[in-house]
Amino acid sequence: MAGTDYSSYLRIDELLDLQHPLTEGAHDEMLFVVIHQAFELWFKLILHELDRATAELQAGRPQAAMAPLHRTTRVDELLIGQLRVLETLTPEGFLEFRDPLKPASGLQSGQFRAIEVLGGLDGTLPAGASPLSDHDTEELRRRAASPTLFSALCATLRAHGFDAPDGDGTELRERRVDALVSLYRDHASPERAILHRVCELLLDHDESISRWRFHHALMAARLIGSRPGTGGGGVVYLDTTITLRFFPELWEVRNRL
Ligand code: HEM
Repeated sequence: MAGTDYSSYLRIDELLDLQHPLTEGAHDEMLFVVIHQAFELWFKLILHELDRATAELQAGRPQAAMAPLHRTTRVDELLIGQLRVLETLTPEGFLEFRDPLKPASGLQSGQFRAIEVLGGLDGTLPAGASPLSDHDTEELRRRAASPTLFSALCATLRAHGFDAPDGDGTELRERRVDALVSLYRDHASPERAILHRVCELLLDHDESISRWRFHHALMAARLIGSRPGTGGGGVVYLDTTITLRFFPELWEVRNRL
């Protein structure tokens, strides 16, 4: 019996047929296409892992959330490193193929928005940006109605006896931060050690995505200066996103210890 064939299992022929630069003779456009596609594949894996982690936390099983969260943070780190490859592109090399790309932009990455929504952000695009595809819009709507990583963390904390209510408003937020402070002050028992580790893995993810935002904004400044981006927002817009955080309450704990 013939075993599994490498190329057909991994659909290598189809995969390698998906790179179609728009400008003939622009050598560097292949790098641009490949790196965006590679990012989208990694985003797919991040969502796959974060969905598992969210489901496990929602079900009160923090131990089972650790492996997918750990893998996510490794991929996040890889994404930051990949920007170094893109930085071998020069401003004049980019200009050779940039104009025909308009108005396409990373702004329309539905998967990046989905990572934001799972992180608790609303994932809305800046004013004036081209809209997401219908498929991406529908997917984001579905995700917006589902638990976020942080609400799933709160479900797990409640399942382990902590007062970590869902909901907006100062009073509910204070109760959650108090619960986190008590966990951070005492995580010696095996049960609390796991919960504490999960919180720190979530923070690792938050920090890595922030570092990606910062590095991406620097890289963009290096390539296009203060010109508008292909999607119209430019580096001025990117600079406004650097301070976004998925889990502000996990950062707030640091002030209370
Ligand atoms: C030549 C390389 C790149 C440049 C110059 C660049 C520049 C920009 C700029 C200026 C924006 C703001 C919107 C706009 O004006 O279009 C943006 C947004 C974005 N880019 Fe890039 N980018 C590059 C490569 C990449 C790559 C490889 C990815 C990976 C998928 C990526 C993902 C994103 C995402 C997700 C956004 C939206 C960020 C947000 O709304 O917070 N970009 N980019």
